[in-house]
Amino acid sequence: MRWSTAIVASVLAAFGSAEPIRRHPSSVPFPASCPGVTKQTPFNLTTAPGWKHALIATGLSRPRAVLFDKAGQLLVLEAGKGLTGHTLDPATGCIATSKTLIANPALNHGLALSPDGKTVYVSSMPTAWSYAYDASTMTLTNQTVVVRGMNPGGHPSRTLAIPPNKPNLLIVSLGSEDNIDHASINKETGRAIVKVFDLSQTPAGGWTYNTQGWYLGYGLRNEIALVFDGNNHVWGVENSGDNLERTINGQVADVHHDNPAEELNYLGDPSISNEQWYGYPTCWTVGPGGPAAFLPTDGPFTVGDQFTVTPNSTFNDASCEAQSTPPRLTIQAHSAPMDGKFDKNFKNMYVSLHGSWNRVPATGYKVVEIPFKKTVEGKGKGKGKGKGKDQEVTYEPVAAQDDPNGYRDILWTENVATCNAGICLRPCGITWHPDWSRMYVTSDGSVGELYILYKE
Ligand SMILES: *[C@@H]1O[C@H](CO)[C@@H](O)[C@H](O)[C@H]1NC(C)=O
Ligand SMILES: *[C@@H]1O[C@H](CO)[C@@H](O)[C@H](O)[C@H]1NC(C)=O
Ligand SMILES: *[C@@H]1O[C@H](CO)[C@@H](O)[C@H](O)[C@H]1NC(C)=O
Repeated sequence: MRWSTAIVASVLAAFGSAEPIRRHPSSVPFPASCPGVTKQTPFNLTTAPGWKHALIATGLSRPRAVLFDKAGQLLVLEAGKGLTGHTLDPATGCIATSKTLIANPALNHGLALSPDGKTVYVSSMPTAWSYAYDASTMTLTNQTVVVRGMNPGGHPSRTLAIPPNKPNLLIVSLGSEDNIDHASINKETGRAIVKVFDLSQTPAGGWTYNTQGWYLGYGLRNEIALVFDGNNHVWGVENSGDNLERTINGQVADVHHDNPAEELNYLGDPSISNEQWYGYPTCWTVGPGGPAAFLPTDGPFTVGDQFTVTPNSTFNDASCEAQSTPPRLTIQAHSAPMDGKFDKNFKNMYVSLHGSWNRVPATGYKVVEIPFKKTVEGKGKGKGKGKGKDQEVTYEPVAAQDDPNGYRDILWTENVATCNAGICLRPCGITWHPDWSRMYVTSDGSVGELYILYKE
């Protein structure tokens, strides 16, 4: 069908975008299955109405991160193996060829590509490297240390991200040493923080993580997912604590099934230092289903409230409310968010929820969609001259901060209540195909898999 002027005009009115939205602007077919790729895992998957999925690769080594290079080829960070490159068969949409680009078993999560596609960044626990990348031959040269001296233990992921509009900035997330890392209240420990480094000034031997660069928040237990909104500002999705008990007036309540909530935090403009404290390891977030778990004498709590596990005469929940930056939205406790990506028009953020070990019944093991809205404030809102002047555009979830249902499932494991990491989907890396027709989602469970997820 050709786009008539009237349809384009109504689409523009509805979406405010310069480009018409098409249902399938796809350059490659959607395979229902791929030759030689057979499901090795017992779980069954379901998608929300309007969505479809297909398994396109199996037998990967813990695929943690995935992205497209400028030639439409997939780069996959396989933990314990290294970095692999994959071409797509234009006739089928299946994987045509695969090769190992970096053989390094220490690589375990982080993967980023410079906006011009010419530099690849990868990380182990202590180190982040850059490589010059030639997409035409899928080769990497000139390995260079860009960040060094990161905590060699603790939560292992070192998520890497480069703002699309600031190719000289490298954002590196580093989680806590353990569940409750008391020392990390001091951000100079270099843990439970997100930091930013200027790649145009990298000193010989690389930036030293703990003492150089600037902050993009601290008191962030394990901010594995870093996501850019339409302003190129950063949202972090946090893996919060396990096994929490709340002790008040000598009475102990096990609140851990639904508390603390996983957090969607606004970390802001990465070119500006953000030294806000996000609460860890002292203040936590009341989760969906959480208020009921507290003692009747406790609270009252609303979802999203900040609390401490052992209120005392000098530090209580009110102290947390006053000092801790709360999340903009909560996600079910123990879901374990791993990665996130916005769609083309920043209307939804897609987040992979790896799945729980610390909750009965189990939760997560799915991909969710968080609807976002764009707000334009200030002068120059109208048309013509002056349009856009003094305007402030912001992005935030549609749901209110205390809404426990601010997201919806789009791909999930059936019978999730009995899931465990050995048998169920373990969604991890997410990326969009460059034509925006589909997402690629890795699963790093007992068998490493790659799925496509798309709207019918
Ligand atoms: C998956 O679905 C098949 C067919 O309905 C069923 O036989 C099998 O038990 C299911 N597997 C699990 C783990 O639920
Ligand atoms: C290797 O990378 C470093 C750091 O980016 C750069 O300064 C140097 O010019 C590169 N060398 C070559 C041969 O490309
Ligand atoms: C009160 O709680 C705070 C925060 O957990 C803690 O740092 C402080 O040591 C506690 N004070 C007392 C007297 O226990």
